[in-house]
Amino acid sequence: MDDSTKTQAVSDAVASLYNTYPFPPEPFLDEAPPGYNWRWYWPTVHSFCTGVVPASGSVRVLDAGCGTGVSTEYISHLNPEAEVLGIDLSERAIATATERCRRSGATNVQFRQISIYDVDQVEGEFDWINCVGVIHHLPDPLKGLRALATKLAPGGLIHLFVYAAIGRWEISLMQRAIALVQGNQRGDYRDGVQVGRQIFASLPEGNRLKQRERDRWAMENHRDECFADMYVHPQEVDYTLDSLFDLVEASGLEFVGFSNPQVWQLDRLLDNDPALLKRAQQLSEKDQYRLVELLDPEITHFEWFLARPPYAPISWDNDGDLLAAIPTRNPCMEGWPSQSIFDHNYQIISLDAQEFELLQGCDRNHHLGADQSPTSVAALIAQVGASLQDLRQLHQRQLILLQPSQRIASI
Ligand SMILES: C[S@@+](CC[C@H](N)C(=O)[O-])C[C@H]1O[C@@H](n2cnc3c(N)ncnc32)[C@H](O)[C@@H]1O
Repeated sequence: MDDSTKTQAVSDAVASLYNTYPFPPEPFLDEAPPGYNWRWYWPTVHSFCTGVVPASGSVRVLDAGCGTGVSTEYISHLNPEAEVLGIDLSERAIATATERCRRSGATNVQFRQISIYDVDQVEGEFDWINCVGVIHHLPDPLKGLRALATKLAPGGLIHLFVYAAIGRWEISLMQRAIALVQGNQRGDYRDGVQVGRQIFASLPEGNRLKQRERDRWAMENHRDECFADMYVHPQEVDYTLDSLFDLVEASGLEFVGFSNPQVWQLDRLLDNDPALLKRAQQLSEKDQYRLVELLDPEITHFEWFLARPPYAPISWDNDGDLLAAIPTRNPCMEGWPSQSIFDHNYQIISLDAQEFELLQGCDRNHHLGADQSPTSVAALIAQVGASLQDLRQLHQRQLILLQPSQRIASI
């Protein structure tokens, strides 16, 4: 078999899996989905990656490998000014995604059944690409990522998610065991699910694979779609930190950062020994990530942003720029207005009186009358008696978004 025949065979097998078991198997809601995910909201994505809110909400967004459209639907509703396109290999996934969005009234979205490899057939460029849980199922993930990179506008951002090899060790053993038992029935995904469930049921108590499934995955895997996606996949490449960075380097895009940065903080693992923590923090950034990967085998995936150059994030180190900026409250929070809220990661946090007052001031910039002008950082911290450092911390904690003074408010 030549390379292109092999690629086609793998793509056919992947499409067949998701035509049998479209993923994710979320029910239709018939209304806009509840809550938020800051990774699906353009102002917070842009702010996380560049330090500033975007100039405009009317952007082109591609949800590459959108599956049954759960993320696409959220992106469409959370970003009503955006023009959203979802693409996927699987005909059934696309049909489900289309119906989901029709029923919830998402009007700014379209779908096409097309491979990521053929994304050059889609016209124009995208400001933002969401590609979650997909490229590790391509026969050549780098080729897929490069195809997506060519569709990013200059300065455009892409969010990716791939599996991590260490945290999925037990899963990969089970995948191979199921394939072995299936023999020439591989490719029959219903049979694969049945074989997998039989193996788990017959393994003795205390078996590590069985225990891991029960402790970590069983809640979602009671649905056959999830079980098949995890254990009966015809194509999966799992990454280590090193192979991940090889992929990033070869993509020609710039690494922005992990979109779950708290996972990659050494202090969550070495906090009990400040001297050791300090020593480990002398390592290069990449070696610190390597150390986290080695010390926390619970990490089952990598999620991160890349940018197409030119990429020039603003750090807000310059006091003058920060004083002149316009702050707004990050709308990705629940329970507002209160001193006890769920933040952008749905973590419950308590605000002290001053932080609450600062956030209230930021919030007022959302609700300005036609004759009112927004309050700058300088005016706000003077009103509240806070310092610039207090404001910087709110920004680092993603509780506020900042707009450079030269721009008119757009969110
Ligand atoms: C695990 S699902 C992820 C769905 C969605 N992104 C999510 O996070 O819920 C993987 C999806 O990628 C799609 N896919 C796999 N290879 C693809 C390719 N070459 N081009 C487009 N879609 C692909 C599959 O059909 C499937 O719907």
